[in-house]
Amino acid sequence: QSKGEQILYSIHEKVSEFYHYYLNNTVNGEAALQYLLKRNLTQQTIDDFAIGFAPDNSQILWQFLKKEHFTDDELINSGIFYLSENSQQLIDRFHGRLMFPLRNMQGKVVGFSGRLMSEDTSKRSPKYLNSPETIIFQKNQLLFNLDRARLPIRQSNQVLICEGFMDVIALTQANFENTVATMGTSLTESHLKQVTKLAKEVVFVFDGDDAGQKAIARAFELSVAFPNNTFKSLIIPQKMDPDEWIQQHGSESFQKLIVQALSPFEFQMNYLKKSYDLSNQQELAWYIEALIKLIANIQSPIEQQLRLNNLIQEFNLSESLVKEQLAQANYINK
Ligand code: GTP
Ligand code: MN
Ligand code: MN
Ligand code: MN
Ligand code: MN
Repeated sequence: QSKGEQILYSIHEKVSEFYHYYLNNTVNGEAALQYLLKRNLTQQTIDDFAIGFAPDNSQILWQFLKKEHFTDDELINSGIFYLSENSQQLIDRFHGRLMFPLRNMQGKVVGFSGRLMSEDTSKRSPKYLNSPETIIFQKNQLLFNLDRARLPIRQSNQVLICEGFMDVIALTQANFENTVATMGTSLTESHLKQVTKLAKEVVFVFDGDDAGQKAIARAFELSVAFPNNTFKSLIIPQKMDPDEWIQQHGSESFQKLIVQALSPFEFQMNYLKKSYDLSNQQELAWYIEALIKLIANIQSPIEQQLRLNNLIQEFNLSESLVKEQLAQANYINK
């Protein structure tokens, strides 16, 4: 660990403590605390995740850090502050936001994400603002909550991967502790490398909107590089995200969704089903042809055989015809 890294870690730790204290103990933090409680986070959860609030006036944090003997250059290097051209003062880029510390696998704070509390978001002020990348923070490698979720992931032999860290916080509070999230970027092979070591089963718990569905398809493509793991995806109805689902339907209902999670094949089959009008004979034929191509892609020969048998039975097809089509699909795949 270099001297530069040590300083960055200690700035982040101090700032995280400050934001959390400011949320819990000051008049200026009250509205932010109320916002969190209204979203059904408990005080315990707020403390566990050290959620905080960044004062609107940057001078308060700056003066606190000066007493801790950090230099302006160090504060700018941390990514938390920038120099205002106008006032020549250091400004906290997160000022006025709800603050979520981002921790690395060792539990050290390496960055922040700050949320606006008003829903009035625009290009100039995005809903969430993340720390810029530094020598201690690489956005497309970090998994939110992996430090706390590591043991539960091992013990359950399962990991739930979400899109948003608010989902992780809500799920953890609902006792689904084997949960992590990417930082708004799409899933990478590096993310999967980190979790596939810890558990056999990986469940994608993305938002139920169209973007989430696309993300699942992409995640399944990445998953073929991990043949020793099983991958599933959970479809949350009514375009909700995991947090919204838990708030409205409770954790038992969410457990049911996990049990019903789809395999890559089932997910793709569902997707195909929606793309064809199965009451039309021509489209039904196209659907079955597309399905045979999907079956040809299944890695496990046993699963392939089972899916084939189902298809033959469901549509009352001749076995030899289906096998012939499969051979053709295999030929094209190679
Ligand atoms: P809430 O609206 O607070 O419930 O958060 P959410 O988790 O539902 O957020 P959403 O589904 O919109 O986005 C998922 C994740 O994408 C968030 O956790 C962020 O990491 C990221 N994200 C969302 N909006 C923004 C944004 O405006 N800027 C950046 N940089 N990231 C964002
Ligand atoms: Mn959104
Ligand atoms: Mn989303
Ligand atoms: Mn969401
Ligand atoms: Mn949400």
